[in-house]
Amino acid sequence: MSHFAYVDGVLHAEGVSAVSLAEQFGTPLFVYSRAALTEAYQAYAHACAGHRASVHVAVKANSNLGVLNVFARLGAGFDIVSGGELARVLAAGGQAKDVVFSGVGKSAAEMREALEAGVKCFNVESIPELDRLNAVAAEVGKKARISLRVNPDVDPKTHPYISTGLKANKFGIAFDEARAAYRTAAAFAHLEVVGIDCHIGSQITEIAPYLDALEKLLDLVEQIESDGIAIHHIDVGGGLGITYSKETPPDTGLFVRTLLERIEARGQGHREVYFEPGRSVTGNAGILLTRVEFLKPGAEKNFAIVDAAMNDLARPAMYQAYHAIDPVLERHDMPTRLYDVVGPVCESGDWLGRDRSLAVLPGDLLAIRSAGAYAFAMSSNYNTRPRAAEVMVDDQNVFVVRARETVRELFAGESILPA
Ligand code: LLP
Repeated sequence: MSHFAYVDGVLHAEGVSAVSLAEQFGTPLFVYSRAALTEAYQAYAHACAGHRASVHVAVKANSNLGVLNVFARLGAGFDIVSGGELARVLAAGGQAKDVVFSGVGKSAAEMREALEAGVKCFNVESIPELDRLNAVAAEVGKKARISLRVNPDVDPKTHPYISTGLKANKFGIAFDEARAAYRTAAAFAHLEVVGIDCHIGSQITEIAPYLDALEKLLDLVEQIESDGIAIHHIDVGGGLGITYSKETPPDTGLFVRTLLERIEARGQGHREVYFEPGRSVTGNAGILLTRVEFLKPGAEKNFAIVDAAMNDLARPAMYQAYHAIDPVLERHDMPTRLYDVVGPVCESGDWLGRDRSLAVLPGDLLAIRSAGAYAFAMSSNYNTRPRAAEVMVDDQNVFVVRARETVRELFAGESILPA
């Protein structure tokens, strides 16, 4: 069920009216629903129950401490891509032993931090990275547990910027080179091979590309084991899509069960399976509230100029992504008009929605949907705009999980030249 719904013509987040949230905390405002986060996570966890399978939430989708804390309390593991994300997981109550460390360009300092903290596994993406990790592990006096991210070269049929499993991408080790790379990895004194990893892309709305990737991975695992290298876990990555508009991604439970069954059918059910969902556990658990500053009729287009912008939500500008936009207050007594919903930033690319049919007046609130993933996490301070506040609604309660930035904070680390 949706935890963002209309009650008497006013959009609510769980038991709290969006109008009162905007009045109390100002706009632009990210609003997360604890129940929605919990439900989306539990869909994975429940489907994994009874199998050797675990969920590692991709921190990059939403790295707010309050959000991560909700997942940590539910027993989630985490997928990180930087030392910064590791620090966030630990500060949010997560444990290093439940963390997998992904990413193509880990620095030696990040590797050291992760080894010292005791992360579960490094997802290694190249031979030079194996070299570096081995050297750092030797210095720290530990063995680094690793899996290799293999690029299965399947087409996830998603936006080119977020498809990652094709040969032409910078990610992973080429499928044909993977077996040899495993032999190389196994020879390092300070590395311990424990698994295999892949991640084929994001906002994927079909199971078929996963099954294609999985079949290739399982073949490879058999070859690697015949070389005498044990593979204890298979990390299938993240990428399951959500409904922004009319997409119909598979239900999470069905997705998880289908993959687990295929692995079991191949006689590999003794291995642990890791899932790394980001968008599908956070995306539709958040909205971005924004206020209409001006309505500006134009010769060709009408503009609704709002107080949120591309710095708050970069996805439309970056990927031409669609986010549904709904008025917080339903105005049934007014005709709708077509608007481009745009922000105050000085770029033509600063739009949040195009050709949206809306019945709005200046000063009205709009809710930009599906703003729980890759929204605040990708926000910036462009145009010296303080980043939005973030609140978490839990039934009738509201918690500020990130205070609105102040302009002073934005340039606190800067200085003018000496006299
Ligand atoms: N694991 C790895 C190794 C990843 O690179 C990613 C996302 C995930 C897991 C989580 O994928 P998800 O379940 O969220 O699809 N900024 C883009 C999305 C970039 C995704 C990058 N990798 C967007 O706004 O659509």
